Amino acid sequence: MFASLSPEKTDLGKMDAESLWHSLVQHKPFSQKPPKCMAKGVGCYVTDTDGVEYFDGVSGLWCVNVGYGRQELAQVAYEQMVDLAYFPITSMSHEPGIRLAHKLLELLGYEGKVFFSTSGSEANETAFKIARQYHAQTAPAGSGPRYKIISRYRGYHGHTMGALSATAQAERKLKYEPLVPGFFHVSPPYHYRFGDGQPENVYNAACLRELEQTILYEGAESVAAVIVEPIISGGGVIPPTEGYLRGVREICDRTGILLIYDEVVNGFGRTGKMFGHQHWGVEPDIISFAKGLTSGYMPLSATAVKQHVFEAFLDEPGTDSHFRHITTYGGTPVCTAVSLRSIEILEREGLCERAAEMGDYLLSKLQRLLDHPNVGDVRGKGLLLGIELVKDKVSKTPLDSDIVATVPRYCMDKQVIIGRNTNTIPGFTNVLIMAPPLVISQEDADRLADTVCDAVFAMPSS
Ligand SMILES: Cc1ncc(COP(=O)(O)O)c(C=O)c1O
Repeated sequence: MFASLSPEKTDLGKMDAESLWHSLVQHKPFSQKPPKCMAKGVGCYVTDTDGVEYFDGVSGLWCVNVGYGRQELAQVAYEQMVDLAYFPITSMSHEPGIRLAHKLLELLGYEGKVFFSTSGSEANETAFKIARQYHAQTAPAGSGPRYKIISRYRGYHGHTMGALSATAQAERKLKYEPLVPGFFHVSPPYHYRFGDGQPENVYNAACLRELEQTILYEGAESVAAVIVEPIISGGGVIPPTEGYLRGVREICDRTGILLIYDEVVNGFGRTGKMFGHQHWGVEPDIISFAKGLTSGYMPLSATAVKQHVFEAFLDEPGTDSHFRHITTYGGTPVCTAVSLRSIEILEREGLCERAAEMGDYLLSKLQRLLDHPNVGDVRGKGLLLGIELVKDKVSKTPLDSDIVATVPRYCMDKQVIIGRNTNTIPGFTNVLIMAPPLVISQEDADRLADTVCDAVFAMPSS
């Protein structure tokens, strides 16, 4: 029977089972325990409706960068709702939108334009449409369309049809194909797994050769853009090899292809700098932001382009060269006002630096895991960390999923939430993921590292 819609706590589990569709779990048997229902968050902690408190080692979905319970973000949202809750920026404007676009370009350090949407997927869809239209408006007369998009295996770029087409994780696409034509994938620079003992620079050159060769085989003049996360996040926390981003930039420059960075996870301090790509000093043509843009307090994303890209859209009124792409909720006054304040908090509290410092601390504490026969690699940058579990260190065969799953479960029993790359690459769901809020204290970092280490050492043998 359908439970009455009373808000009483005791009915929530039943109501959840009757009505709420959760995307990463099976819903049978219906008698199973209802999912934990969170009611409050402060700093790095969330508390469920039974009053049990958990350390959130993954910042929700890797987005609550400034931590939970920020009163000032609520206050800013409240005041903005009272002043002007909504107004579109399709052809008119509002102050928080203007200020945020300006702030993002200031942080990026270059001239350009910013387009707002509501999710990371849409930010990437926007980037793909901009790239295609850019080429349509700059290509020499008589040339064919540049429409292909190249991404890397293991990369995740979103759930909508175009963004999912760029996503190169087979399990995410299962039963949704065929997707959008024109999307191709190449190998990521994954030295731990595929370096085969080669020095990093040799392996890096091989990855770049594969990218360039793919472009040549496809016909460079048909390729619009290459999209990369500076550090692959959901695909298993894979930092690039040294020289990789520079190499991709050079290939794009040689072939007239636009370079898109997906900074949806990497951005806003997560990796220890404001933006992930700033570790390597290589700039893109287009960049996508979401998640940490508002620290998850409001649904907002952005696609920023450099001025030379924007200039391809300049023409006389009445022509069709403007960007004909509309989003009702992209960049509302409330979302942009909250984003501005969230960025202010990141800067005021030095949270990028804190992420760098605490990330180094966590990484060094987790090194002891390398003594375990099933721990192949411990890696990451800032507060984006991964632990790759293998059957043995020589073959590097991924550890059985059932055994890997014992680790997050053990942590959850100790009220510590960590992640894992499930539903991504068939047979490769063997990376544990940590991405705590950037406000993490040293004491909490100790708790996180100790719990994860205990959990790994408590795994059943393979
Ligand atoms: C790297 C990356 N890009 C894009 C997205 C899509 O963002 P959203 O879920 O907001 O659509 C995600 C989501 O996790 C992501 O990790």
